[in-house]
Amino acid sequence: MSRLVQHNSTAPVPIKSPADGSPTWICQCGLSKNQPLCDGSHQACKDEDSNKLYEYNEKLERNELSQSPRPSSVYKS
Ligand code: FES
Repeated sequence: MSRLVQHNSTAPVPIKSPADGSPTWICQCGLSKNQPLCDGSHQACKDEDSNKLYEYNEKLERNELSQSPRPSSVYKS
């Protein structure tokens, strides 16, 4: 079984430590290989066109999709 997940964010979100306020960066782009933590892979999607849909391979190479998947098969985060 596989599933397709759509992410619209191109940057991480900081979660501050209650102990000392230091941030832990949580991935929101979906490309990190160290989920749920950001590993900097979001750099690959910084210049995306917000009106287009892309997919990425393991090497973070981008492919623009010519057709959007059916809306019922996509979870947006
Ligand atoms: S936000 Fe996903 S790798 Fe940084």
